[in-house]
Amino acid sequence: MLVARDLTKEYRVGDRTLTVLRDVSFSIPQGAFVAVVGPSGSGKTTLLGLLAGLDTPSRGTVLLDDADFGALDEDQRARLRGAKVGFVFQSFQLIPTLTAIENVQVPLELRGDARPAERARELLARVGLADRLHHFPTELSGGEQQRVAIARAFSNDPRILFADEPTGNLDSDTGQRIVELLEQLNRESGATIVLVTHDSALAARAGRVIRLSDGAVVQDSAPMVGAAS
Ligand SMILES: Nc1ncnc2c1ncn2[C@@H]1O[C@H](COP(=O)(O)OP(=O)(O)O)[C@@H](O)[C@H]1O
Ligand SMILES: [Mg+2]
Repeated sequence: MLVARDLTKEYRVGDRTLTVLRDVSFSIPQGAFVAVVGPSGSGKTTLLGLLAGLDTPSRGTVLLDDADFGALDEDQRARLRGAKVGFVFQSFQLIPTLTAIENVQVPLELRGDARPAERARELLARVGLADRLHHFPTELSGGEQQRVAIARAFSNDPRILFADEPTGNLDSDTGQRIVELLEQLNRESGATIVLVTHDSALAARAGRVIRLSDGAVVQDSAPMVGAAS
């Protein structure tokens, strides 16, 4: 379960305070597939950063399986992320000097995995890239690069995966296949998936849509009932 309670994020800009998120609250049960939508600048990326423990709110709480990110220091947050969280970016963010299998293998090695090469091969096979293991990122299509990034994001067997506009740099057919892959991994692994997308057709595939406007939730197709925790 992921719980956001009264999340507010403010930035000081000169002598003004800019409120980027205001009192955002919801809870997402384990295994859900949720789309976060809203116009550019509405706070989607900021929200994902707070939910993933990459950034800290000005006020409010994020609970991941009852662990309170706000009660942890930076090292402890990093450890919790390493144990439970995966992240996929619009720009893939693969290491250009490493092959597909190396991009997935390196985080496994850093985690001390006993069989990093085999695990990396298995993960790439799951995303349909068994025959692209030794390609460098520049030798892969955009959709293939995003598949490598998804395999890497699943390398720690996360309880929750955040994807920030993962289809934003892809054509619509390729983007649809990426979302189908995320749906498949959601079903198979039971990982919660929180997907930010501009594409309303892709958002409509999610079990639940949370819409942000100007930093506030203006629509939630499965609103929190009572004070769930
Ligand atoms: N570090 C920052 N300092 C000041 N303003 C920021 C900072 N980061 C983001 N913002 C502002 O927060 C708002 C929301 O940004 P963002 O979360 O990236 O929106 P989205 O992902 O929905 O496009 C924007 O108006 C942006 O300019
Ligand atoms: Mg964004």
